[in-house]
Amino acid sequence: MKQHMTSGSIIACLLVHFLFISCSFAQSDTSINPYHYSISKIAKGNHGAVSSAHPLASMVGLAILKQGGNAFDAAIAVQLALAVVYPNAGNLGGGGFLVAHTKSSKSVAIDFREKAPGSATRDMYLDSLGNPLVGLSEDGPLSSGVPGTVAGLFSTLRYALLPFQDLIQPSIDLAEKGFAITESEAETLNSHQDDFRKYSTETTVFIKKEPWKAHDTLIQKELAQTLIRIREHGMKDFYQGETARLIVEEMKRGNGKISMQDLANYNAIERTPMTFKYKGHQIIGMPMPSSGSLLMLQIMKIVEDRDIGKMGFQSPEAVQLMVEAERRAFADRAEYMGDADFVKVPVKKLSDAGYIKNRMKDYVTGKATPSNIVSPGDINPESEETTHLSIADRYGNAVSVTTTLNGLYGSRTVVGGAGFLLNNQMDDFSIKPGVPNIYGAIGKEANAIAPGKRMLSSMSPTIVLKNNKPYLVVGTPGGTTIPTTVFQTIINIIEFRQSAFDAVNNPKFHHQWLPDQVLVEEEIPSKLINSLHAMGYKTTTTPEIGRTELIKINWKGKKSASFEAIADKRGDDHAAAF
Ligand code: DON
Repeated sequence: MKQHMTSGSIIACLLVHFLFISCSFAQSDTSINPYHYSISKIAKGNHGAVSSAHPLASMVGLAILKQGGNAFDAAIAVQLALAVVYPNAGNLGGGGFLVAHTKSSKSVAIDFREKAPGSATRDMYLDSLGNPLVGLSEDGPLSSGVPGTVAGLFSTLRYALLPFQDLIQPSIDLAEKGFAITESEAETLNSHQDDFRKYSTETTVFIKKEPWKAHDTLIQKELAQTLIRIREHGMKDFYQGETARLIVEEMKRGNGKISMQDLANYNAIERTPMTFKYKGHQIIGMPMPSSGSLLMLQIMKIVEDRDIGKMGFQSPEAVQLMVEAERRAFADRAEYMGDADFVKVPVKKLSDAGYIKNRMKDYVTGKATPSNIVSPGDINPESEETTHLSIADRYGNAVSVTTTLNGLYGSRTVVGGAGFLLNNQMDDFSIKPGVPNIYGAIGKEANAIAPGKRMLSSMSPTIVLKNNKPYLVVGTPGGTTIPTTVFQTIINIIEFRQSAFDAVNNPKFHHQWLPDQVLVEEEIPSKLINSLHAMGYKTTTTPEIGRTELIKINWKGKKSASFEAIADKRGDDHAAAF
């Protein structure tokens, strides 16, 4: 595959390789057949658009928009659908962030990140000698934080138009009657069979004697019952009722820590979004406990005044600048960032223009700055596997949600009798200073475990405004590569003048201070890699970075717009519009 995809549609179509599912680049068909559906990587329309990790979820979102729902209604319905059709990351037992811009120009940030259970302790994943027991923060019930997703859905409801019953019904049907799984879901289900047996205390629908195949029907009766209880009793069921009881029973059987009190105490929080300007655009993102927007702010401010657009897309010069900006931002992440409800995060200092400029004072064009000489910035104490969905509607609302179980299928613990997976988000805490988590991120005191604290995240649901109207709705999974992928996607459009399709699908790279290496996607040309080596960079190749979902909106006057939805070529991601 070439890295520049001018005839992108055709190439992406070839990537959709399972037989029963055809590939289309035409406007989406909205009749939903869960046993036979096709994947679209691009969709265009004048009324609204949805891009998510699964065709059935995007189709549910589109149907809700067509029914008269707004982007918030669709975001609720799509998340619920993903919890059914995309169990490796879609969830009821995880958490996430929603960033939105409403038709009345209000910017919104809803934090439904998991919290450490009340009985969690700072050293709970260390042995008596203080050595990390790494598996414990990754596998099984002890790795789960108190889930936030259901609280997040209900907190979103205040911006929605339709009754919750209408938004959850498509997911109940998909769980009850089943749907055809894709080839990649079959593959990941097969590779996690032993884990499901090991980390769930009761048998689950994901365990099967014969290997899963593309087009097998996955029916989830217990999950359907959980969704019906939520339909009937609202979030009370999940946090205080029968579902809460089932979660706590699973914890007791599997030595986890989440209690009835932890669940009853959980609340989603509406926060003030993080916003900053980039060349006439306004970027809106998530504040702490996500590091994503602050990292993007630091990185984007560094490239903003160096005219990166002129350097050329993936020129050694531009890539070096981006890598060095990323390196410095991630050094600050490790030192300073964590849940700002628990620790003082010096956000003002870290986003100060003079501070950011000073971070680049040892930057040498054409030569790598080794990470061992880049410490976190010196600041005076201030005076004081995941999935993304992007949705926009014709009323002017735009919603960007990233939600996660953390690893693929999270803790691999399915709540007995309730049919959904729990997260392994506790691993996003720094279990010990300097010990990397599953994404290689290190942290210190700011991100140490404490009861009720939210673990630091990299998730970066983002909205870019142009002329005060939503222009780009964007986000991706990918652990620590999330902010750098969102950054590159935006820069590809604003600076390198790429189409939305190319901006999403062109290969990405990533640096996170430690380990001191540039992670590059396989499709990055070898010429660029050789240039990086000549400057002193080490590179490590990875098959894929991110699964970016993007909507680009072109407003024609106040009320009329055209929408272009792009779904990443890297997965089963599906774009829908009308
Ligand atoms: O919150 C975070 O930063 C991580 N738990 C996200 C994990 C993720 O993106 C998994 N997908 N590849």
